[in-house]
Amino acid sequence: MSGTEIPPPDWDAEVTAAGEPPLWDPDRDDRLVCRAVRQETHDVKTFVFSGHSPCRFRFKPGQFITLDLPIDGATVNRCYTVASSAARPHRIAITVKRVPGGPVSNWLHDHMVPGRELRATGPMGSFTPAGRPLTKLLFLSAGSGITPLMSMARTLDDLALDRDVVFVHAARTPADIIFRAELDAMARSGTGFRLAHLCEAAGDEGQWPGYTGRLSLPMLRLIAPDLLERDLYVCGPTPFMAAVRAMAQDAGVDPARYHEESFNFEDLADSAADLPIAAEPVSVEGFTIEFTKSGRTITCGADTRILEAASAAGIRLPSSCARGLCGTCKSRLLSGQVAMNHGGGIRQREIDQGQILLCCSRPVSDLVIER
Ligand SMILES: Cc1cc2nc3c(=O)[nH]c(=O)nc-3n(C[C@H](O)[C@H](O)[C@H](O)COP(=O)(O)OP(=O)(O)OC[C@H]3O[C@@H](n4cnc5c(N)ncnc54)[C@H](O)[C@@H]3O)c2cc1C
Ligand code: FES
Repeated sequence: MSGTEIPPPDWDAEVTAAGEPPLWDPDRDDRLVCRAVRQETHDVKTFVFSGHSPCRFRFKPGQFITLDLPIDGATVNRCYTVASSAARPHRIAITVKRVPGGPVSNWLHDHMVPGRELRATGPMGSFTPAGRPLTKLLFLSAGSGITPLMSMARTLDDLALDRDVVFVHAARTPADIIFRAELDAMARSGTGFRLAHLCEAAGDEGQWPGYTGRLSLPMLRLIAPDLLERDLYVCGPTPFMAAVRAMAQDAGVDPARYHEESFNFEDLADSAADLPIAAEPVSVEGFTIEFTKSGRTITCGADTRILEAASAAGIRLPSSCARGLCGTCKSRLLSGQVAMNHGGGIRQREIDQGQILLCCSRPVSDLVIER
């Protein structure tokens, strides 16, 4: 080799002293490579990713990542729970339900194939039993809301922890049960894991030996008579979560034992979820904010978040979580300064490049924003 030649990337150079590849750091390299795609049900697929170079993913079961996807010439952000086991750190998997008319879920189903890359950030989120004492658990999910609970169940299984889990999953028909075979295998494999599938109708299976109908408190008490001794983790569509919350209240479940995740951030404001949102007055007196793309200019007080001021002025900007988590409102700050208090939805590298999250930034000078 001549003195000027650059050696090819060396896999071993990435390996830490402990013999493991480094942790995935989206600030350094946010690319994920799709390694496998699995059809779970007729409208649900699992996408398995590894880092662009060998790495480990550190996440708590129940946390999510935010994808940046190039769709129709724009970058679109959506959050997806890591459904895989936190004890298998070299790959992460997301499991996505096709939402009719939804841009991102359909793009993933139609375009994400092994070998294709995307960009992501995270993992983040506080819906997890990790870090809490291991108690008796009751997982309640419906539809694609199974993903965070599946990550918890898989992690407990992999770590061979002394678990006591009752897993209740509601689906429309048996054919809609996601991870059915794997859950059945977990339930068969030993003690400490009880499973109750619940279907609204038998569908094509004709005969359905499991629970039928919608979840009710008598049914829940039948499945988990020791309901009040368990920590509840709940995820599913809004009506399901509202029904389970009401059941838990009626049954006298200690609110400290009740944990829920919504795939619709708007639900969180009214729920007992872990992330509080501050109700703040919108102050429109103060600094001037110019939005270059729309050509609109507003005023915004130093105590008001830019997204709120824009919304109060009738400007609709992309947003989802409104808590600095998901990255949907990320925008370029062309001039001025803000005070930003984000929750992980933006990388340090992006901040250094002049990007801000509008939902959790307040002006400290006049601003010009590319929006
Ligand atoms: C923290 C978090 C974790 C999430 N984890 C997952 C996951 O593991 N798997 C997954 O499939 N989705 C998950 N989602 C939902 C996901 O981010 C997208 O909203 C979903 O894939 C739809 O995106 P879209 O662009 O296709 O449609 P959108 O334009 O975002 O949504 C279209 C409509 O469908 C509704 N909708 C969104 N998601 C669903 C759904 N799953 N079922 C039925 N209706 C829905 C929306 O409220 C909206 O009205 C999660 C969301 C959050 C906030
Ligand atoms: S809307 Fe989610 S980070 Fe701003």
